[in-house]
Amino acid sequence: MTVTGRLVWITGASSGIGEALAYDLSRRGARLVLSSRRGDALCDVRERCVRPEEHVVQTLDLAEPESLHAAAERVRSEVGPVDVLINNGGISQRGTAADTDMAAVRRIMEVNFFGAVELTKAVLPTMQRRGRGHIAVVSSVVGKFSTPLRTSYAASKHALHGWYDGLRAEVHDDNIGITIVCPGFVRTNVGSNALDADGNPLGERAQEQGIPAEDCAAVIGDAIEQDRAETYVGGWETIGVYVKRFFPALFRRFIRQYDGT
Ligand SMILES: NC(=O)c1ccc[n+]([C@@H]2O[C@H](COP(=O)([O-])OP(=O)(O)OC[C@H]3O[C@@H](n4cnc5c(N)ncnc54)[C@H](OP(=O)(O)O)[C@@H]3O)[C@@H](O)[C@H]2O)c1
Repeated sequence: MTVTGRLVWITGASSGIGEALAYDLSRRGARLVLSSRRGDALCDVRERCVRPEEHVVQTLDLAEPESLHAAAERVRSEVGPVDVLINNGGISQRGTAADTDMAAVRRIMEVNFFGAVELTKAVLPTMQRRGRGHIAVVSSVVGKFSTPLRTSYAASKHALHGWYDGLRAEVHDDNIGITIVCPGFVRTNVGSNALDADGNPLGERAQEQGIPAEDCAAVIGDAIEQDRAETYVGGWETIGVYVKRFFPALFRRFIRQYDGT
C-alpha cells in the first residue's frame, strides 16, 4: 500500500531509525503519529518533518501497558484510525548472560517484545473491522542469530519473529500486511542507550559503524509500500543470516570470536 495520505504511527520516533522514518514517510505524504517517552524531542522531530501541522506527537512508554492503551485510545478518538503501525522503539544490551541482572533481562523483553505486542493488539481490532492495514516491526539481524553480549536483546528480537510470523498468517484474510525488518549496524544512539549488566544505559559514544539511519528508513518505507514479509538492511553483517542457515557449524565458530562491539 502507498503511505501517501495514510495515518502512520511510529514508535521510537524521537531518535535514530524512527526519527529518520518520520522524515522519510512525511516526504512520501503520510500523516504521522510520533511516539516515544520524550515529548520535547518528538516535537523537534515533528517540526523538521514536511507539513508538521499534519503530524501529532503522542508520548508513551513501551514498558507501561496503561500508557500504551491510553495512547491508542487518544489516537483513535482524536486523530483517526491507524493505517500503518511501525513498532520501532527498542533498547539494546551489552553484557554477558552470566553477569546480566534479571531485572535488565525483563526490561529488554518488556520494551522490545511486550510493548510492541501490546500496541499491536490495541490497533488490530480497528484494522480488522476496516479490512485493511499494515503493521511493521523493527527486529534486527540478531532476531535471526545471536551474538555474545546481546543474549536478552537477541531473545527479544527472536520472540518478535515468532509472534509476528504467526500474526501474518492469522490476519492475511483481513487484508493486513506484516513486515519484519532486520537491520544490521545502523549509525544511531542504540549503543549508548543499550543496557549494561546492571540495567543502566551504557552512555558511550553513538554507534559509529553501519549505514546511515536515513538509508535504513528508506528501505523500511519501501518494504512497507511493497508489503514485504521480511527484509534485511545493512552491510556485511546481514550475510550472517545466510551463513547461519547454510553453514551453521562455521557460524558457531565465527560468532564465539566476535567481541560484541
Ligand atoms: N541501530 C542499529 O544498529 C540497530 C540494528 C538493529 C535493530 N535496531 C532496532 O532499531 C530500533 C530503533 O533503534 P535505534 O537504532 O534508532 O536506536 P535509538 O536511537 O536509541 O532509538 C531508540 C528509540 O526507542 C525509544 N524508546 C526506548 N525505550 C523506550 C520506551 N521504554 N518507551 C518508548 N520508547 C522507547 C527511544 O525514545 P525515548 O528515549 O524518547 O523514549 C528512541 O526513540 C530498535 O528497536 C533497535 O533494536 C537498531
